[in-house]
Amino acid sequence: MLYLSRSDIAAVGGDAAELYVDALNAGLIAHAEGKTVQPLKPYLRVAGKQGHIADRIIAMPAHVGDPGLSGIKWIGSKHDNPAERGRERASAVIVLNDPASNYPVAVLEGSLISAWRTAGVTCLAARHLAREGFTDVALVGCGVIGSTQITALLQQFGSIERVHLHDQRPEAARALADRVGREHPSVEARVAETAEDAVRAGDLVVPCTVTSEPYIAFDWLKRGALLCNVSIMDVHKEVFLKADKVVVDDWEQSNREKKIINQLVLEGSFSRGQLHAELGEILAGARPGRTEDDEIIVLNPMGMAVEDIACAGAVYERARERGVGTWLDLY
Ligand SMILES: NC(=O)c1ccc[n+]([C@@H]2O[C@H](COP(=O)([O-])OP(=O)(O)OC[C@H]3O[C@@H](n4cnc5c(N)ncnc54)[C@H](O)[C@@H]3O)[C@@H](O)[C@H]2O)c1
Repeated sequence: MLYLSRSDIAAVGGDAAELYVDALNAGLIAHAEGKTVQPLKPYLRVAGKQGHIADRIIAMPAHVGDPGLSGIKWIGSKHDNPAERGRERASAVIVLNDPASNYPVAVLEGSLISAWRTAGVTCLAARHLAREGFTDVALVGCGVIGSTQITALLQQFGSIERVHLHDQRPEAARALADRVGREHPSVEARVAETAEDAVRAGDLVVPCTVTSEPYIAFDWLKRGALLCNVSIMDVHKEVFLKADKVVVDDWEQSNREKKIINQLVLEGSFSRGQLHAELGEILAGARPGRTEDDEIIVLNPMGMAVEDIACAGAVYERARERGVGTWLDLY
C-alpha cells in the first residue's frame, strides 16, 4: 500500500484548491447521476448525548466512479483538542480500496484532505450559487476549517475585495486577518466584533464554528447572499423556511441525526419537495443554480464520503505519477 503523510499530500498539490475543485466537480456529478455508493455514516459518540456535539469519531465509506475507487474516511474530533492538547480539533485517516479485489491500496492522512474538500465544496457552490462578481465574504469561526475556506476562496475568486472575520476568540480572527493581509495585500481583512456584524456584510457567508446553538437570523442576510452552512447548527430554522432556494449535498444525509433540516422535517414544516436541488444536480446542469441577483440561497453541506474518496483518489493518482509517498507491505 502507498502511505501518504500530510506533507506528501501537500507536495502533490493537496494544499491548494484546484485539485479539489476538479475532483469534487466530477465526484458530485457522479453522485447526482447515481454512480456512487454511499451508506449513511455512523457516529461513534463515547459520551452519548451528554457529550459535546463535536466529540465523536465518524466512519465515512463510499465508492465513486466506474471502476473507480472505494474507501473510507475515519475522522475523529474532540472540541477541546486545541485548548487542552494544543492539537487540531479533527484528525483522520483515509483508506482507499481497489474495487476489483477490495484490497486496500493506500492510506492517507485525512484531515488536510477533509479541510480542503470542505473548502472546495464552498468554492464550487459559490461558482453556481453566489452572486456573480461577489466582493464580500463573511466567516464566523476562524479555526482550521474556516481559515482553509478563506484561503481557497481567495485562490479561486479574484472578485473578493473584503473578508469579514469573527471568532469568539478574537485572537483567532486577528491571526487570520493578519495572514490574509500579508498574502493578499489588495484584500481588506476586517475583524468583526460580532457574528451579526460579519454576516450582515457578506455576499457569501460561511459559519465554521463548533456551536450547537443557532444564532444566525434570516434578517441578518443581505439580499443576494449565499450562505454555505458548513458547521450545520449555526442558523435558525427560519433561514431554511424563508430562503429563496435551499440546496443540500445529499438529502438523505441532511435529513437525519436531529440536524436542523431533520428537525424541520419532523415538525412538518420542510420536505424533499421544498428542496431546490442537491448540489451535484446543479453541477451536472440538471437543475438551475442562481437565477436572480437578489435571491437568498442556503447550501447545507453535511459533508460526504463521496467527496473525501473522490479527492483522496485524485491525490493518490498524482502521488503515484510523481513517485511520492512510502510503500508499506500488507503482509
Ligand atoms: N460540512 C462539512 O463538510 C464539514 C467538514 C469539516 C468540518 N466541518 C465543521 O466545521 C466546524 C469547524 O471545524 P474546525 O476544525 O475549524 O474547528 P476548530 O475548533 O479548529 O475551530 C472552530 C472555531 O470556531 C470558534 N467558535 C466556536 N463557537 C463559536 C461561536 N458560537 N461563535 C464564534 N466563534 C465560535 C472557535 O473559537 C474556533 O476558533 C466544525 O463544526 C466541523 O464539524 C464541517
